[in-house]
Amino acid sequence: MTLSSPKPRPLIAGNWKMNGLAQALDQARAVAAGLDEKPAGARVAICPPATLLDRLSQALEGSAVLTGGQDCHVKTSGAHTGDIAAPMLVDAGAALVILGHSERRDDHGETSALVAAKVETALTAGLEPIICVGESLQQREAGSALAVVTGQVRESLPAVLAGQAFAVAYEPIWAIGTGRVATLPDIEEMHAAIRAELVVLFGDHGATVPILYGGSVKPDNAAEILRTAEVGGALVGGASLKASDFLAIIAAA
Ligand code: PGA
Repeated sequence: MTLSSPKPRPLIAGNWKMNGLAQALDQARAVAAGLDEKPAGARVAICPPATLLDRLSQALEGSAVLTGGQDCHVKTSGAHTGDIAAPMLVDAGAALVILGHSERRDDHGETSALVAAKVETALTAGLEPIICVGESLQQREAGSALAVVTGQVRESLPAVLAGQAFAVAYEPIWAIGTGRVATLPDIEEMHAAIRAELVVLFGDHGATVPILYGGSVKPDNAAEILRTAEVGGALVGGASLKASDFLAIIAAA
């Protein structure tokens, strides 16, 4: 008889992207205070810009809010001006790291092979990776969304993830920061395809890996998205910058 692994708690992760000066720490403190008052069913993380990570981790120490980086270099140190190494994120208090976000794939030409290498580096450093995948509007309109995304899953997830804590985030590029959200049937179809791929890659463990949805998740659509089959949380950009909005999304999980 095989025992199935328990279903992990949903993960709601805020991705601040290139937003946030010192005063933004107040928003994070307000999120922590809100969760203190009303504990969440979900795990909660905030991934600020690197300049705020250390201060944010200190401000949130002892709270229910984890912190994470938005990227790491594939190497752990060396001559890579402007880049951040995974052990530096850990040193600054991070527990997680977002890898392969479409903005990094687009802005910095990151390939799935590079993302997979970064995942290995992150795991070695003790970070829990959130690995992002998602199709462009052109790919969706051409009918290739499922093939593109499942291909990204296969190529961005190295075998060393077996048995490790990680999440996959499905973020259709055309839904990021646009206010456009994928339809619930589209989300369900894509998450089911990602789940099937995860089971092929990781067996029983693949059946429990949280698959987050990202792309214009807001307080008014979070509940229905988070109720959709195989949605195990959310990666939230714009709406994570304001404590009240982020708390409302967390409460919907
Ligand atoms: P958005 O961003 O919520 O602002 O659309 C999501 C993301 O890119 O992680």
